[in-house]
Amino acid sequence: MTQTAGDPTVSRKGDHIDIILGQDVRARVNGWDDVHLVHEALPEVDLDEIDTRTTLLNHDLEAPIMVASMTGGYPGAKAINERLAAAAAAHGFAMGVGSQRAMLKDPSQAPTYEVVREHDVPFIAANIGAPQLIAQGDTKPLETRDILRLIDAIDADALIVHLNYLQEVVQPEGDTRAAGVWHAIEHLVKEAPVPVIAKETGAGLSATTAARLVESGVAAIDVGGLSGTTFAAVERVRAERAGAAAHARLGELFRDWGIATPVALREALTAECEVIATGGLRHGLDVARAVALGAHCTGLASATLAAASQSAQAVEALMDQLVAELRTGMFLSGASTVDELRDRPVVVTGAVREHLLALGHDPTALGHGRRRPGSA
Ligand SMILES: Cc1cc2nc3c(=O)[nH]c(=O)nc-3n(C[C@H](O)[C@H](O)[C@H](O)COP(=O)(O)O)c2cc1C
Repeated sequence: MTQTAGDPTVSRKGDHIDIILGQDVRARVNGWDDVHLVHEALPEVDLDEIDTRTTLLNHDLEAPIMVASMTGGYPGAKAINERLAAAAAAHGFAMGVGSQRAMLKDPSQAPTYEVVREHDVPFIAANIGAPQLIAQGDTKPLETRDILRLIDAIDADALIVHLNYLQEVVQPEGDTRAAGVWHAIEHLVKEAPVPVIAKETGAGLSATTAARLVESGVAAIDVGGLSGTTFAAVERVRAERAGAAAHARLGELFRDWGIATPVALREALTAECEVIATGGLRHGLDVARAVALGAHCTGLASATLAAASQSAQAVEALMDQLVAELRTGMFLSGASTVDELRDRPVVVTGAVREHLLALGHDPTALGHGRRRPGSA
């Protein structure tokens, strides 16, 4: 069992890692299985010439990949963040740290996040939960100076505000006040010295929500859709362990609640901002599928966690493999660049197709309107 100090925020983080590494807490269906690239028998590009480079909020990346926000805030997190940051730097991937609330409560935990800046990661995102932007019971909202401390601590290029009400409602000690969060995000955007990214954490978001978030001023959206890690399942395990049977039942019932990541991606692409697709991506082929469906960047959380909990070499090998899989997907689709991949045909089947049709999307639409906002 990972160490658990007295502070509930600190112990929660360790619990999450243990549970996600040890149990099946994924959604029961993965939407990426419904997304198919079309084989191109005449690629007309050499494998060695495939160019995976792209940008995220004007930062150059070697591939449209981000190590999604996961950890920090308990002693074991330092090694995980260090390994992820070293490999992200070597591969030119973006990276997010986990919620930094724990370092505000216990400054001795700051090094578990700060370690990422010891590596030349091209894009680093700070992280805070939207529920912490408003009062929760006796707990006051975070102040601007707190947020600035979090950004400064890791010299962040952006600040992620995560939306995680599914998790909070299943968590026995969850923060379930939500009224006023939109205004709090709007205020935060004005105060933050870096772009703000709004991110769901596994239940996805709709076109309407994406539009409202863009209206609040966020620079990008991470759809954090349903398909992979589901915090309803994670918190169910914690609730069971705590003897909180009613919360455990909620977690079980809502395990597959949410908008599948490919659907949430197409929904969010109707808003004028860059869109990151996180949720259920298992390998570089899923990365290629997400980009072909329009994502500007992708995020992988749990797929990187097992390697990061093992060794630096394991993370290096995993990231090499991710790039090889992405390049192979691009080659066999006849896309020599990330922009070309965004214009390649995609066939969408099954539940994702039905969901897209029901929401008025054309699941066969190719290329049009999916380029980076503002590009030709
Ligand atoms: C161990 C773990 C901890 C996480 N902690 C955070 C967090 O602190 N902040 C956040 O925005 N998302 C957090 N997430 C959510 C992920 O960033 C991601 O949105 C979600 O896990 C879905 O991606 P996946 O299917 O690749 O795991 C966490 C995920 C994992 C696996």
